[in-house]
Amino acid sequence: MTTPLLEVSGLEMHFRTARGVAKVINGVDLRIEKGQVHGLVGESGSGKSVTARSILGILPQRAIEHRAGEIRYNGRDLTGLSEKQLRQDIRGRQIAMVFQDPMTALNPVMRIGRQLMLPIRQHQGLPRKEARAKALSLLGQVGIPDPESRLRSFPHELSGGQRQRIMIAIALACDPFLLIADEPTTALDVTVQAQILDLFDQLRKERDLAILLVSHDLGLIAERCDEVSVMYAGEVVERGRASEVFEHRRHPYTWLLEGARPRLEDPPHTRLNTIGGRPPNLLERPSGCAFRDRCPRVLEICGSVRPLLSAVDGTSSIACHNPMSAVEVDPGAGIGAQQSAPVRGTPA
Ligand SMILES: Nc1ncnc2c1ncn2[C@@H]1O[C@H](COP(=O)(O)OP(=O)(O)O)[C@@H](O)[C@H]1O
Ligand SMILES: [Mg+2]
Repeated sequence: MTTPLLEVSGLEMHFRTARGVAKVINGVDLRIEKGQVHGLVGESGSGKSVTARSILGILPQRAIEHRAGEIRYNGRDLTGLSEKQLRQDIRGRQIAMVFQDPMTALNPVMRIGRQLMLPIRQHQGLPRKEARAKALSLLGQVGIPDPESRLRSFPHELSGGQRQRIMIAIALACDPFLLIADEPTTALDVTVQAQILDLFDQLRKERDLAILLVSHDLGLIAERCDEVSVMYAGEVVERGRASEVFEHRRHPYTWLLEGARPRLEDPPHTRLNTIGGRPPNLLERPSGCAFRDRCPRVLEICGSVRPLLSAVDGTSSIACHNPMSAVEVDPGAGIGAQQSAPVRGTPA
């Protein structure tokens, strides 16, 4: 097997908090190939952002109580690198990140041109004139009209979608090979969201860019990604080809996650259908399966034995003692149906 662009194995990340140690990431594996779009999906608090930030080493170092695992980029383990090495060799040049809210990531009192040229000049040492030409070209690539005048704009003069395009241009400034996009479209309306996701598709084709796309929206991930990893309580509980995972949804959590998704055909102000129960207390992680208290298919074994991610068929893997079989799932089932997730076997 060839060396993947990024390979995360056995990642664990526990944080000190005022109330004890929060076991936030508990053995995450990820593998992303060059030019591939990998989706990381899960409900809020499942550990998606901490996983994403671990890759770039941008976590509150002082709060880390325990960490384990490897993060290999082109075969090189990033976990051993110093802050200085990460800054010089990795961040921006190899791996860049785009966040959910571009308004907080952009400097409100600095013109777009300056914010865009800063990384180009710092990392690539280009003289001013060439940096400016590159900034203009980047704005064109991310679909900003009239780039010349946009260089002189301040962030508040732009729409939310345009600000996110600027953030993507900044992320691309040093020609990275992997882009980590953490809920990049969550703050945007549906039409603009689709445009930004189209832009990712285009960049990936033009630059052979790999993308780790983080979202709580399984449908979006299924549409836009090659592979998907479904996270719950800091673990990957289902993984496979995005289309396959979405179609079959073998893990009961994945099944419920799709039911929780807002749909275009829903009338406005429909209450978001969230999964019943609460995410597990990360301070006192239960033995066995972390999803068992909320699972409609729970068995006795789920209380004592932690299910490990294992291959089911084709390219999918799941961590579940009582997965749904493909025939049980009605892919057309929408909101409301999720409360009566079909139960097979005898619940404990
Ligand atoms: N520095 C930290 N200290 C303590 N707990 C944290 C820290 N960072 C994140 N967490 C907790 O870890 C869990 C996962 O967080 P996060 O990765 O942001 O979730 P997601 O992005 O999937 O919504 C949350 O319960 C969050 O409160
Ligand atoms: Mg997050």
